Amino acid sequence: MRVIVVKNKEEMGKRAGELIAAEMRKKPHFVLGLATGSTPLPLYQELARLNKKGVIDFSTTVSFNLDEYVGLPGDHEQSYRRFMDENLFNHININKKNTHVPDGMAKDISAFCDQYEQMIDDVGGIDVQVLGIGSNGHIGFNEPGSSLGSLTRIKTLTPTTIQDNARFFARKEDVPTMAITMGIGTIMKAQKVLLLANGANKADTVAAALEGPVTSKCPASALQLHRYATFVITEDAAAKLTLPHE
Ligand code: PGA
Repeated sequence: MRVIVVKNKEEMGKRAGELIAAEMRKKPHFVLGLATGSTPLPLYQELARLNKKGVIDFSTTVSFNLDEYVGLPGDHEQSYRRFMDENLFNHININKKNTHVPDGMAKDISAFCDQYEQMIDDVGGIDVQVLGIGSNGHIGFNEPGSSLGSLTRIKTLTPTTIQDNARFFARKEDVPTMAITMGIGTIMKAQKVLLLANGANKADTVAAALEGPVTSKCPASALQLHRYATFVITEDAAAKLTLPHE
């Protein structure tokens, strides 16, 4: 594991952007795995900046997002499709047809999940998967207790996640209770994973994920078994790490 500790979230976005740009320059038909949440926003601003400067080109990039709420159409203001359009896709030269976010309105969710998994395999797999980490250790919506070998499927959100995400909805009751998410096994299949974390509220979870036991109680701990995992973490979120890092 490569653990890079940076001063603040702006620096987190820049370092993560540099790492992705270096990978994108190696491979024209790049397959980028993307995440939602507040953590990757500085990264998305950096990717848009690098794209405008001509440092990276998304015209042949294919993207797959980790997850989407069940029951929210793509144009709902809290859907992850809308989040991605507003925070990244509308600001880079990606072809929207090549951007994939799970369909929260799929009629046959199980068939859709199998199809999503197949679509990732059909383009040769994900080159770099961007991840945030939930306060309960989730990656994507793989809540504690998720099978470490799981593939794309429907998950029920835990009360902690519903509470964490309630800030984006008018009322806590409006937060969807289920989501479609890539599994931990899907994430582990990516060539490289890049997890970002910032904020003192993530310090215990980051320490559990990086230095605790590998356990489904902390789904992000599965990344200790990934062959190429990089973590870009702000000082406050890294405060409880004990092992040496960059
Ligand atoms: P956050 O969410 O980036 O908004 O903290 C992270 C997550 O739930 O994966």
